[in-house]
Amino acid sequence: MLPRIRFAYLPTPVEPLPRLTTALQGPQLWVKRDDQTGLAFGGNKTRKLEYLLADARKSGAEALITAGAVQSNHCRQTAAAACRFGFTCTLVLAGEKPAHISGNYFLDRFLGAELVWVEKSQREIALKEAFKSAREDGKQPYLIPYGGSNAIGAAAYSFAVQELLDQKSDLDWIIFPSSSGGTQAGLLVGAEKYGFQGRILGISVDNSAAMLQSSVSALAGETAMLLGVKREFSTEEVKVNDEYLGAGYGEMGDPEMEALKLFALYEGLILDPVYTGRAAAGLIDLIRRGFFTADQKVLFWHTGGTPALFADPYLDMLSAR
Ligand SMILES: Cc1ncc(COP(=O)(O)O)c(C=O)c1O
Repeated sequence: MLPRIRFAYLPTPVEPLPRLTTALQGPQLWVKRDDQTGLAFGGNKTRKLEYLLADARKSGAEALITAGAVQSNHCRQTAAAACRFGFTCTLVLAGEKPAHISGNYFLDRFLGAELVWVEKSQREIALKEAFKSAREDGKQPYLIPYGGSNAIGAAAYSFAVQELLDQKSDLDWIIFPSSSGGTQAGLLVGAEKYGFQGRILGISVDNSAAMLQSSVSALAGETAMLLGVKREFSTEEVKVNDEYLGAGYGEMGDPEMEALKLFALYEGLILDPVYTGRAAAGLIDLIRRGFFTADQKVLFWHTGGTPALFADPYLDMLSAR
């Protein structure tokens, strides 16, 4: 048994999307609501943090250190978990400190995290310095990897497959945004462990398919080992679509805006501009291109991220339409 601290609201609901299904004349669409995992606006990192925080606690750590982008959902959820369980939290954020405080950046500050701003190339150095400085303050540091994506974090998504199968077991596809790969690696191992028969397709948010397939297959192997699943995962087995990268990470374009609008107007469901918006844009395009048959059941795994909606420049862009 992996050590776990339970704080996510689980199981997250699985809901049909009948109006969106009709509007897109598509396969039968469903959603799994991991935007409702509960911790400070929820998201996929909450599941991973249940295991990562337990590991941190077991190792006697008092200071959580992690890294992410300016509007990182992972950083926001880590900051919230740190508050809830009495850790300090240092976030190494890559990029320019924004002039205006908004979205996840606002929440990081509000949750009392110490923020360190660096260029992406300086991230490792900044993490090492944060480690040193925690030790100098007499606090044992614990590094949570980028995106919470090591075998311990990914394991949470293996267990999530069992949760899903208890709710809905006849799905043909699971579609979701994939970035640091922990969600996808976990789902692959979970599919093997609990016998999910459908296919698992990650829509890449920022990396080439080749890069993501390679990192996910490696991480899935490590996660399988951790969970006692005797299986390796080849890169070809990791299904990734990288056709929807648009203008790059965090750049919301017309496809993401259309996806946000369609999910909102047909289902009252709020996506985020960076991750689920991009994955939903991919899903919509695949439906329009006839990738699925009408009788297939397709589950969109909503991985959260909604506070970024209220961040610059997304709020202005979406308000203008
Ligand atoms: C809202 C949201 N969805 C999806 C992802 C991607 O998950 P993973 O990093 O496990 O691939 C992230 C990662 O930051 C995220 O914040």
